[in-house]
Amino acid sequence: MGAGWVGLVTAACFADLGHDVIVRDVEASRIAELEAGRVPIHEPGLAKVLDRNLNRLRFTTSSAEVFDRTALAFVCVGTPPTYAGDADLSAVWHVVDELPDSKDGLVLVMKSTVPPGTGERVRAWLDARGLSHVGYVSNPEFLAEGTAVADFMRPDRIVLGSFRREQGDRVATLYKKLAAPVVRTDVTSAEMIKYASNAFLATKISFINEIANVCEEVGADVKLVADGMGLDQRIGPHFLRAGIGYGGSCFPKDVAALKQLAGNTGYHFQLLTSVIEVNELQKRRVVGKLRKHLGSLRDRTVALLGLAFKPDTNDVREASSLVLAQRLLAEEAQVRAWDPVAIEDARPHLAGVQLCEDLLEAVTGTDAAVIVTEWSELEAFPSPEVLAAMNTPLIVDGRNFLDPEAVRRAGFVYEGIGQPSLPAEEQLPPLPVEFRGTPTPSLAPMRAR
Ligand SMILES: NC(=O)c1ccc[n+]([C@@H]2O[C@H](COP(=O)([O-])OP(=O)(O)OC[C@H]3O[C@@H](n4cnc5c(N)ncnc54)[C@H](O)[C@@H]3O)[C@@H](O)[C@H]2O)c1
Repeated sequence: MGAGWVGLVTAACFADLGHDVIVRDVEASRIAELEAGRVPIHEPGLAKVLDRNLNRLRFTTSSAEVFDRTALAFVCVGTPPTYAGDADLSAVWHVVDELPDSKDGLVLVMKSTVPPGTGERVRAWLDARGLSHVGYVSNPEFLAEGTAVADFMRPDRIVLGSFRREQGDRVATLYKKLAAPVVRTDVTSAEMIKYASNAFLATKISFINEIANVCEEVGADVKLVADGMGLDQRIGPHFLRAGIGYGGSCFPKDVAALKQLAGNTGYHFQLLTSVIEVNELQKRRVVGKLRKHLGSLRDRTVALLGLAFKPDTNDVREASSLVLAQRLLAEEAQVRAWDPVAIEDARPHLAGVQLCEDLLEAVTGTDAAVIVTEWSELEAFPSPEVLAAMNTPLIVDGRNFLDPEAVRRAGFVYEGIGQPSLPAEEQLPPLPVEFRGTPTPSLAPMRAR
């Protein structure tokens, strides 16, 4: 149920493991695309897995067809945030409401991320409707977009929370070819494992981002600091990359929902309140870095490189790029944006931004280029062509993606996150490079080349 990132990857991978799968979505256009052999999302490797398992996959808009023909129904629908910050469970309840009265032996398996307590409520509702024979298992998903297929096939763990052990066993059977530890719990604990995991990862990101901000004050390099910290096995190297904040369809909403859930029970989750605030401020830090070099941003042209919330996906939900674009427009800057796959997804959110398919076009005549998403296409970005095309050669690297020394040697001014910063004058090459752009005499404090 649901042909988004989780639903499609789950379907493709279960089919690859030898199971027959029916994929149902309420969006007819999405099902039509899948039936025509097109994958509606950008997820590396997914098309290949779907393609080689077409004989085990069916696509439909009919819930009756799913409930008629299946023994296990995985709920993979979206659970976006409400205005109050809670998880919106309307799509989940829609699936539950569609259950026919007489379906024996069916187990509903909740893969969507739902607040702890949801399974108990669904169970009570099923029982009240006379559907005690319908099983319920919580099986939260931990895949990450961009590496979703590999994450599904090689998970760190499979979590199964059930009211009845044998229902959990039935779900465990589906995964038996995967060499992963299976964690068996009650339903509410399984739901909490998912929320707590995402909240912890978000906390790690906000923590290293604050360390980065202090590094800038004291002249330390957060990349070296993170490397040194990560070698400590109690800390580990993952999620210690400083940048301009987390985004995406999961962390922001899950952290907010956990905070909200705690608040609804009367508990103030102080730490998560800070994690969220730090993340919001972090997305805006780039503006200060641009101002440091360019002064007022009014009528400056700034290129945002990368719109997706992370590389290898076209997902722009809660992407830092969207916040940054709005902030820059509010500063009266001219904003351009480039992304290799997410332009159309971002377009509805970026009125007033010039969207460019071509990277060189995006930076031509700009006063600064901001790396927002670390797409591999940007590895060779600091090239002589780009240097010649930009009005002023300022790169703000929001993901600490490029090698600062190499970028500076190539003739650019470089600003990263949490790294020792040099005044613009000191960063420019001692011998002026041949000037090819339009002079901007008001360029203060940054010197025109
Ligand atoms: N995207 C991720 O990286 C990720 C990772 C782990 C967990 N999750 C969780 O998994 C869930 C799904 O996330 P997603 O990113 O795949 O969402 P998504 O928005 O990409 O896909 C959800 C799909 O469900 C469909 N849908 C809505 N109502 C439906 C219904 N009644 N029946 C069938 N289909 C219906 C929508 O049309 C949409 O195609 C969310 O709870 C999310 O938090 C997501």
